[in-house]
Amino acid sequence: MAVRLLVIGSGGREHTLAWKLAQSPHIQQVLVAPGNAGTANCGKISNSEVSVSNHSILAQFCKEHSVGLVVVGPEVPLAAGMVDDLQAAGVPCFGPSAKAAQLEASKSFSKAFMDRHGIPTANWCSFTDPQEACSYIRTASFPALVVKASGLAAGKGVIVAKDQEEACQAVLDIMKDKTFGSAGETVVVEELLEGEEVSCLCFSDGCSVSPMPPAQDHKRLQDGDLGPNTGGMGAYCPTPQVSQELLQQIRETVLQKTVDGMKEEGTPYVGVLYAGLMLTKQGLKVLEFNCRFGDPECQVGKLCV
Ligand SMILES: Nc1ncnc2c1ncn2[C@@H]1O[C@H](COP(=O)(O)OP(=O)(O)O)[C@@H](O)[C@H]1O
Ligand SMILES: [Mg+2]
Repeated sequence: MAVRLLVIGSGGREHTLAWKLAQSPHIQQVLVAPGNAGTANCGKISNSEVSVSNHSILAQFCKEHSVGLVVVGPEVPLAAGMVDDLQAAGVPCFGPSAKAAQLEASKSFSKAFMDRHGIPTANWCSFTDPQEACSYIRTASFPALVVKASGLAAGKGVIVAKDQEEACQAVLDIMKDKTFGSAGETVVVEELLEGEEVSCLCFSDGCSVSPMPPAQDHKRLQDGDLGPNTGGMGAYCPTPQVSQELLQQIRETVLQKTVDGMKEEGTPYVGVLYAGLMLTKQGLKVLEFNCRFGDPECQVGKLCV
C-alpha cells in the first residue's frame, strides 16, 4: 500500500528529502510542513500549514490525514522531543529521541560522551562561570582558542579566536551579554585543530550504521578559502579527502562507536548521525555531532545515491 509522508522543515534539505522520497513507488504523497516555495505543489509534493510546534496537534493531524511516516529535518524539533511525542501517540517517525539528540543539542554532553567512549576529539573543558573559562584559556597547555556555546545556536555559536584575548572576549559575549541566549549558559572551550574538515553521515537503526558518501563544505565566506567561517556556502560530495580506507576507519572508530555507546547508555540513536571531522596530522578528530542531515550536505549527497 502506498504511504503518505510528512517531512518537517523548510530548507533546501527538506526540499531534497521530499524530492527523493517522492520518487519511491511506495510513496503516494509527500507533505512538507511548513515547507518552502520549492515544495509547494510539485507533483506528489505539497506544503501543509499544520503547526509543527504543538506536537499533539501534529499527531492529531497525522492520524486524520493517514500519515504513515514523519521525517524530521531540523535539529530544533528533534531536541524538543518531536519523535518521542509522535511515537507515543502512535505515529511512526524517523529521527532520534530528544535524549539521543543531545549529541547535537549539548556540546558539553557530546564531548563528555566522546571521552567516555574513547572517540577522538579535541581537548576541551566546559564552564558555567566566565571567569573560570577565561583563566583556563590563559593557562591551558594547548591553544584553547575555540569557544562554543554548548546549546543550539543555529550554527552561529562557535568562535574560532586568533588569540587568548579574542577567546576571552568570546566567553564574555556568550556568557555575560548572552549573544546566543540560554544556549550559552554553558560554554565549551576547546583546543584549536588544524586540517581538512569533512562531514561523514550515516543512517542508524540504533544498532548498526550505514554510511553515506563523505562530503565537504565550502566553509569560508570568500573565494580562495579566505574570510571567516560560515555555516556552509555550499558543499560537494564525495570528497577526495576521504579514501575508502579512511571511511572504514571513520565508520569503526566514530560512527559505530557512537551508536554502540548510545545503546549502552540506554539512549539508542535512531536516525541520521552526522559527524563533523577534522583530519589533523595527529589523526582524525570529531569536531561535533549533528543529529540530522546537513543542509547543504543533504543536497549534494543525493547525487551519489
Ligand atoms: N576545535 C576546533 N578547531 C578548529 N576549528 C574548529 C574547532 N571546532 C570547531 N571549529 C570550526 O568551527 C565550525 C563550527 O563548529 P561546530 O563544532 O561544527 O559547531 P556548529 O556547527 O554547531 O556551529 C566548524 O565547522 C569548524 O570549521
Ligand atoms: Mg558544525
